[in-house]
Amino acid sequence: MKVLLVTLASLFASASCLRHPAAPWGTTAPRTRTSTTALGMAGGGRLNCRPLGTGSAAPATIVTNSDLESVVETSDEWIATRTGISQRRILTNDGGVGISNLAAEAAAAALAASGLSGSEVDLVIVATSSPDDLFGDATSVAAAIGATTNCVAFDLTAACSGFLFATVTAGQFLHNGGVKTAVVVGSDALSRWVDWDDRNSCILFGDGAGAIVLQACESGDASGLLGYSMHSDGKGQPQLMCGYQGTDRMVATPGDGTIMSKGAYNFMTMNGKEVYKFATREVPVVLEEALEQAGMTVDQVDWLLLHQANIRIIDTVAKRLKIPTEKILTNLKDYGNTSAASIPLALDEAVRSGQVKKGDVIACAGFGAGLSWGSAIFKM
Ligand code: UT7
Repeated sequence: MKVLLVTLASLFASASCLRHPAAPWGTTAPRTRTSTTALGMAGGGRLNCRPLGTGSAAPATIVTNSDLESVVETSDEWIATRTGISQRRILTNDGGVGISNLAAEAAAAALAASGLSGSEVDLVIVATSSPDDLFGDATSVAAAIGATTNCVAFDLTAACSGFLFATVTAGQFLHNGGVKTAVVVGSDALSRWVDWDDRNSCILFGDGAGAIVLQACESGDASGLLGYSMHSDGKGQPQLMCGYQGTDRMVATPGDGTIMSKGAYNFMTMNGKEVYKFATREVPVVLEEALEQAGMTVDQVDWLLLHQANIRIIDTVAKRLKIPTEKILTNLKDYGNTSAASIPLALDEAVRSGQVKKGDVIACAGFGAGLSWGSAIFKM
């Protein structure tokens, strides 16, 4: 196991909470450095917490692009050139393994890498939109890693921005006291919610989990979470969603009874073109915002790590920010879009392979349903 040890750099610089005037979703109105389409925005400078270890887990079953040629009218060539994806891992229904098990596996690996034990963990946040338990997977993940005493655990739902939002949330607790060690997990099994007859979306997604251990640190350390920015805009919510659609259930209340709703969700729907435009428009801006909060410039970034949705989105963002291709971290080819898991999964692989080293600056950004998008600058 590779242990990520980082020292803490400077102190909390600034924190702000800005509100932008509402603008119609999807407009291309001229903008300043901050997003014009966001209804809400939260950003801030350094949070005194440092990454101590990373971990990840993925299902054993591999589904290649060629496999999908017998599922929908598509081709390996189309998928590879339009998305950069060659294969994805899929959680099957026959092994008794759920997404919470993968989340626990990733959390345990991150904990082992950190050198800490479960009893030292005060906070577990699981970012997921596809939990095994609708009431949340975080408590079972905490129990599985031995974080049973003095640990609070909860889920956070922000789709593909979930891991970043959860990391910033944990960072606030760590920075403000009360929590010394947090495990943040991103886990999703969107294969459960994908319409396998819809070639526009089913070719994109895969399942997996990734995790990071964060520890509160003294001000003055070189490493940590140096700046962040988060946005959401519900006007874009119909562009990418997985909506509730219950079926009728008669309950024998007095009189004629009452038709209640039996819980069920529809398949995920996505307007790929609009989400693509949204991502390429907003992600460069949100990265600039986080860099500004961190008091840094693009040329100080060692690695660009974006939500692994489409290689064309990643390349476009890198180009707009003038970040060279060699600085891009990606494992999209092998895993597809694993939603909340994609950033920590790619980070863990890069750390374990030795690509990312202590002291490296990583600019991360997540984006997706909500619509939501956010960024954070880490010094490892
Ligand atoms: O994590 C959440 C964030 N999600 C995203 O970031 C997704 C963002 N969107 C995308 O990545 C891209 O829009 C897609 C990969 C979903 C689609 O790529 P595109 O280049 O925007 O393709 P398109 O929707 O413009 O479709 C081009 C053509 C269409 O055919 P016609 O109308 O030109 O004849 C589609 O019907 O490609 C067709 N097509 C396909 N062909 C073969 C769409 N899906 C497929 C497919 N295989 N799987």
